Amino acid sequence: GSPKYRFLRQQGLRPSRHLPDALVIGVKKSGTRALLEFIRLHPDVRAAGCEVHFFDRHYAKGLHWYRRHMPYTIEGQITMEKSPSYFVTKEVPQRIHHMNPGTKLLVVVRDPVTRAISDYTQATSKKADMKKFEELAFINGSYEVVDTSWGPVKIGVYARHLERWLQYFPLSQLLFISGERLIVDPAFEIGRVQDFLGLKRVVTEKHFYFNSTKGFPCLFKSEARSTPHCLGKTKGRNHPYIDPAAIDRLREFYRPFNNKFYQMTGINFSWL
Ligand code: A3P
Repeated sequence: GSPKYRFLRQQGLRPSRHLPDALVIGVKKSGTRALLEFIRLHPDVRAAGCEVHFFDRHYAKGLHWYRRHMPYTIEGQITMEKSPSYFVTKEVPQRIHHMNPGTKLLVVVRDPVTRAISDYTQATSKKADMKKFEELAFINGSYEVVDTSWGPVKIGVYARHLERWLQYFPLSQLLFISGERLIVDPAFEIGRVQDFLGLKRVVTEKHFYFNSTKGFPCLFKSEARSTPHCLGKTKGRNHPYIDPAAIDRLREFYRPFNNKFYQMTGINFSWL
């Protein structure tokens, strides 16, 4: 290259694209966008803006394709990506392990019942004539039998999905972030994330303010914008009314799986 690029490369300053060091693998509707937007405030983190879906949808395109979808970084910067469907896709753990067995994995989790309702709310916003949540979550028209094959229900059985990851990665390589806590105390959760990634704690409470109209933490500034802003309108939607009896039945359904998940992770998320 030119003398300028040779100099920059020698200094470790010539930007280039790298495969990710860390991935936000899920869980859909738990606050994955918030997590990525918050951690990328860190100057040593660069993240792909869109969900790349390499390990689930585009795997046949190869790692060269994947790398071309990564942002430019200089030496010392961490490359990240988030595609929440990775957590629940069977083939993905093996594929990520094959790319780099040292990949750090971040998982945002939220009470599976509210997560299911959030997932359903998103689906109704894309499709007009959706059946009611209560009709989709159960079979035979009563609240007895939960339809575990329905996506929004199935995704929330975290213990089942986690089992598959633990066949390829030690628990120490996964960080679990509480979606609930990410809303009430974003600085706390981002502090844990920075420690896990081996980064200095640069992102702190100073970066966040609580917007009471939106009901969520928002940012004073980011790489993209220097003025205060919140996540988009599709983040923090109003949920429809759901029959409390249906909610109770779902809570009962998830209880043993949640307890298993607490056991596996060593963290009590205290979902009801
Ligand atoms: P709701 O829209 O159901 O409230 P994901 O980014 O994984 O799709 O998750 C979306 C969820 O992130 C939202 O679900 C919202 O509850 C949560 N969230 C967490 N922090 C947020 C923030 N600062 N702003 C908006 N939504 C946030």
